[in-house]
Amino acid sequence: MAFLIDGKQISQQVIEDTAAEVAEFQITYGIKPGLAVVLVGEDPASQVYVRNKVKRAEEVGLNSIEHRLAATCSQQALNKLVDELNTDPMVHGILVQLPLPAHLNEAEIISAISPEKDVDGFHPLNVGALACGEASLVPCTPLGCIIMLKTVYEDLSGKNAVVIGRSNIVGKPMAALLLQENCTVTMVHSRTKNIEAVCSQADIVVAAIGRPEFVSAGWIKPGATVIDVGINAIERDGRRRLVGDVDFTSVEPIAAAITPVPGGVGPMTIACLMKNTLTAARSQVL
Ligand code: GUN
Repeated sequence: MAFLIDGKQISQQVIEDTAAEVAEFQITYGIKPGLAVVLVGEDPASQVYVRNKVKRAEEVGLNSIEHRLAATCSQQALNKLVDELNTDPMVHGILVQLPLPAHLNEAEIISAISPEKDVDGFHPLNVGALACGEASLVPCTPLGCIIMLKTVYEDLSGKNAVVIGRSNIVGKPMAALLLQENCTVTMVHSRTKNIEAVCSQADIVVAAIGRPEFVSAGWIKPGATVIDVGINAIERDGRRRLVGDVDFTSVEPIAAAITPVPGGVGPMTIACLMKNTLTAARSQVL
């Protein structure tokens, strides 16, 4: 039986620590750190994510501002809103929920966000800073995964880590952070040959490929730690269920530690967004 890495509990600690620091920030500077969340269109999953982000921000004591734009909104309208948020002194963090409707240029919007307000850590300047080992705003999901791994290992140095998936949001920044922790990092993806043989060498597996229950028992070295970033809605036995990228039932008896879905990485991502908003606010008042 693997140890269950409890994302709810660990994220609650991050939230409580951040809330205490937000209160201190407010006393020191007389302002609340502000987080602006921008949602374009009506994608149901994005609506749920944004609602949870705004709710958490309020709990932490941030000034949270939600902006909703129609799915048909133009690139200019979205650029204009981002420009206004960039210059608004009450806003310290800006998050544009992805994916955007197909007619909008995601890369252009990400680059339009002021790098010091980029709480997602997606701006090319922040991506470059992470690659140089000098980042302050790091993508929330990989940051959450590192915090979870540090509850399992005192030191990640020298561990063989395999990251499955090469997205800009998770896979690439995850690999950069693991490298910063002195892991030996291998990235595998949909075109990798013999993915299973590579994964079975890993002390740490981070699955972020977006395929339900893709990783099965034969991929996992006995005693490995498995971090499951996937959140996939599937239909089973006539019921809608959320499953990860890892086949939990078969992997759990083999791994030493594993994150559940839900209740694993998901709550950590939101907690790290709160942490990043405070980090961003600090960099703007100093
Ligand atoms: N969509 C899915 N994950 C994320 C995230 O971490 N940030 C943003 N902005 N959009 C997302």
